[in-house]
Amino acid sequence: MCGIIGFAGDKEAVSILVEGLKRLEYRGYDSAGVAIVSPEGELQVKKSKGRLAVLESHLSEEKPLRGKIGIGHTRWATHGEANDQNAHPHVGQEGKIAVVHNGIIENYLEIKNSLIKKGIHFTSDTDTEVIVQLLEYYYKKYNNLMDAVYKVLHRIKGAYAMGILCSDCPGQMLAARKDAPLLIGYGTDGNYIASDVTALLAHTRKVTYLEDDEVAVLTADQVQIFDSDRCLAEKIIHTVAWDVAAAEKGGYSHFMLKEIMEQPEAVQKTISPRIMEGKICLEELEQAGDFLENITRIYIVACGSAYHVGMIGKYTLEKMLHIPTEACLASEFRYSEPLLGESTLVIVISQSGETLDSMAALREAKKQGAKVLSIVNVMGSSIARESDVVLYTWAGPEIAVATTKAYTTQMVLLVMFAVYYGERLQRIGEKEYGEIVNGLLQLPEKIQRVLDDVDEFQKTAAKYFNHSSVFYIGRNLDYALGLEGSLKLKEISYIHSESYAAGELKHGTISLIEPGTLVIALATYAPLIEKTLSNIVEVKSRGARVIGLATEETAPVIKDQATDLFVIPKVHPVLQPVLGVVPLQLYAYYVALNRGCDIDKPRNLAKSVTVE
Ligand code: AGP
Repeated sequence: MCGIIGFAGDKEAVSILVEGLKRLEYRGYDSAGVAIVSPEGELQVKKSKGRLAVLESHLSEEKPLRGKIGIGHTRWATHGEANDQNAHPHVGQEGKIAVVHNGIIENYLEIKNSLIKKGIHFTSDTDTEVIVQLLEYYYKKYNNLMDAVYKVLHRIKGAYAMGILCSDCPGQMLAARKDAPLLIGYGTDGNYIASDVTALLAHTRKVTYLEDDEVAVLTADQVQIFDSDRCLAEKIIHTVAWDVAAAEKGGYSHFMLKEIMEQPEAVQKTISPRIMEGKICLEELEQAGDFLENITRIYIVACGSAYHVGMIGKYTLEKMLHIPTEACLASEFRYSEPLLGESTLVIVISQSGETLDSMAALREAKKQGAKVLSIVNVMGSSIARESDVVLYTWAGPEIAVATTKAYTTQMVLLVMFAVYYGERLQRIGEKEYGEIVNGLLQLPEKIQRVLDDVDEFQKTAAKYFNHSSVFYIGRNLDYALGLEGSLKLKEISYIHSESYAAGELKHGTISLIEPGTLVIALATYAPLIEKTLSNIVEVKSRGARVIGLATEETAPVIKDQATDLFVIPKVHPVLQPVLGVVPLQLYAYYVALNRGCDIDKPRNLAKSVTVE
């Protein structure tokens, strides 16, 4: 969603801020802005609705912003429409303090009304403006910026990551966070704040994660972090494993395509360090002692594509562990009064590790004494830090809003967990264990084989990109896979699509099938192929055009019913969706390309959803 970058150093700040904002563009935004304090204490602000190019053209046309300390922001509107006034940074009415903010201030109206009564004039519709007006109010009262910041933090309710500049303290930048990510970067030319590590990779890989209620004070050569009692906090500086090239397009026309193509490598990196001499070794769980003892119920909690992984996980975990497992949407789970306890394992899946609903579900689980295992891609993210045990997917930075390589690596890791745990519980036979381990080891090469057929997916997409509605059907793991295929298509191509359990068609949906309706029939799950075939015949006989997705084994069964057929290599059934999703990703990508959509940054969407 919104993005923050800040710099305090020995170089002119403006280009560093704009460059940082460009790296945050992928998160989704509708306006952008920067604020810089000159050494003489002049607070200069430029902000505008629209893409960064608009801001850049203002910056080049008008008087250059001078100064080596500044904050920048990309805004994704929540309170108040996307326009110049509502864009960040916001400045108080005294013109002394500027603030950029991610998150939502829940009690902003109450604070706003009380400030209005005190004669303070507001110029935007945002919740953020109350932060800066309140800061100036307290600053005027106490004449001390830190006192003012702590007063504000006590008064506001909600989620925030913020960067603060004050014209009276021209060498200083302040930052604070609660329930929204914020990192501090330690560079050779100065120090940084950022809401996302990708904004920092060009400057430094040395970072520390700000914790809730901490306040950071940054200058060109020093970073001090204070806890909620204003005591100096001891922080660990981490080295981020990602490099800057991993967050660049590297010759591809879109990040999404690059990330689809990176899947063999991402899967390899996720698997390789965890298989030794034919055994799955999850060190993180080995070190967690009796963490997995006496589990009687499992909930997999996540949002969007990560939830679809959870659906696949439900089938796989129940089969391998014989423990009742439910996949839950995080946004529903937290309000459904789940009954949890010491014998419940809650698995939270999240690429970003910052999704607010998933985070809230995690906290609810911990509050009720459940054990929390997370599967996360971003090291040091909030979900990773608050979980009892974390299994990292080693997918590297994922920039495109539509997830691809994070999804496949999450699936792989969940299967590895199921097999590892199944063996510990002695509920998986030696033969099946060996077959799945072999299947895992073959995955990167088999994914590559699917990717090598890219032209075929491109040609099929070119034939069907004009359909206004698409149905995905499948059974069991294919049903879960269809949910992901359908989401991929709708989020980037804006085509209406739905995924149905094929056996459910007759209970209502089949009434929507008419001559020419496009149906993508997922038929990779061999144990139910005959049943899936019947469902394909049902839609076919009502005039549907069927694109089939099958394996080398199932293709002969359905080929006569499919107008077009994608055939993928066969692998152990629990791993089949890892291969099955690749054609669906490429199909969605090329349909969106044919329709001229903004593939990496689809309308209304953000990469990481840090609001409810
Ligand atoms: C999928 O393409 C989406 N970008 C979205 O559904 C995403 O998977 C969801 O918002 C969860 O994000 P997370 O994995 O970062 O928690």
